[in-house]
Amino acid sequence: MAKTRVGIVNVTGYVGAELARILLRHPAVEIVSATGRSEAGKNVGSVFPHLAPVDLIIQHELGDVDLAFSALPHRASAAAVLPLLKKGVRVIDTSADFRLKDATEYQRWYEHAHPDPEALSAAAYGLPELHRQEIQAARLVANPGCYPTCTILGLAPALKNGLIEGHIVVDSKSGVSGAGRTLKLESHFSEVNENLGAYSLRGHRHLPEILQELNGVSAKRPVSLTFVPHLIPMTRGMLSSCYATLKPGKTETEVKALYADFYRDEPFVKIVDRPPQTKHTLGSNLCLIYPTVDTRTGTLVVLSCLDNLVKGAAGQAVQNMNLMLGIPESTGIDMLPLYP
Ligand SMILES: NC(=O)c1ccc[n+]([C@@H]2O[C@H](COP(=O)([O-])OP(=O)(O)OC[C@H]3O[C@@H](n4cnc5c(N)ncnc54)[C@H](OP(=O)(O)O)[C@@H]3O)[C@@H](O)[C@H]2O)c1
Repeated sequence: MAKTRVGIVNVTGYVGAELARILLRHPAVEIVSATGRSEAGKNVGSVFPHLAPVDLIIQHELGDVDLAFSALPHRASAAAVLPLLKKGVRVIDTSADFRLKDATEYQRWYEHAHPDPEALSAAAYGLPELHRQEIQAARLVANPGCYPTCTILGLAPALKNGLIEGHIVVDSKSGVSGAGRTLKLESHFSEVNENLGAYSLRGHRHLPEILQELNGVSAKRPVSLTFVPHLIPMTRGMLSSCYATLKPGKTETEVKALYADFYRDEPFVKIVDRPPQTKHTLGSNLCLIYPTVDTRTGTLVVLSCLDNLVKGAAGQAVQNMNLMLGIPESTGIDMLPLYP
């Protein structure tokens, strides 16, 4: 069978490079085009030595492809994606540009008007565990953010089954690659190394996305949630610790059974029997979830863990592509985590 011709808009960032790494070994596709302003004219394999086998010259504009991934920052991404859609190319966008269904919310959080509000309703939110059928039929998939993937997967079973009473607090920690490859003072080695801090306490841009999806799945609405992200001194990895009052009368055994049932057939979400650590997911497309109960206070505690560049970005994008192409969902992304 002929391979699907895929392209990467902006291979020069962390997500773009991770897409190239995964797609190069994918049996059903061929990477035929890649863009990136700063390295245009150079070979992908010479810009990124770990991608030496990718023999492809980086272009300013994407060539002829069947399906494209955009790994641009928001705003620049919509500007690149909309013309591709008009040409009939199917697109998976890893930026935030098509994740929110409400254009007013987009404007509020991203501080500019959305260029095509109609495209927001046509886009499928690319979390296969909640939107598999929509993704299969979509021409545009909005790949979720890394914090949203980790947090939504951690809380969806509890909210769907009405296990939570009242407010939820999510404490999330991300490795520094979550902030991207573009140079910024906050991600310099001496700023991050041996350091730990919270940021965006007045509201992170991923909050509306988390609420949109959790309100969609929850038995009770609206969902009330405080989200506090932290940057920690490691390259990859993300852990969300979620806390909420457990509905009276529910036991830890029932909670664990409901979580196991919710993700029973999922290839990439595993309910684990001990607290997951970021190294348990490193380099893999897995999200590991550990639900437990603090019986002393009646608090539900859910730990959710993934690699921000794989299940949090490029791996999930390829999972979505597999669904769009109608091929087995795990194709090309069934790698085990790296250890140690
Ligand atoms: N990092 C993560 O863990 C993660 C997870 C989920 C989703 N995402 C999303 O995925 C997208 C890519 O993230 P990333 O971490 O790969 O970012 P990144 O490493 O910072 O890459 C961004 C690259 O985009 C190019 N760029 C920047 N501004 C541009 C503009 N205005 N127009 C065109 N190109 C521009 C630059 O490359 P050139 O100068 O070479 O063009 C830059 O290196 C973002 O939308 C991000 O929010 C990231």
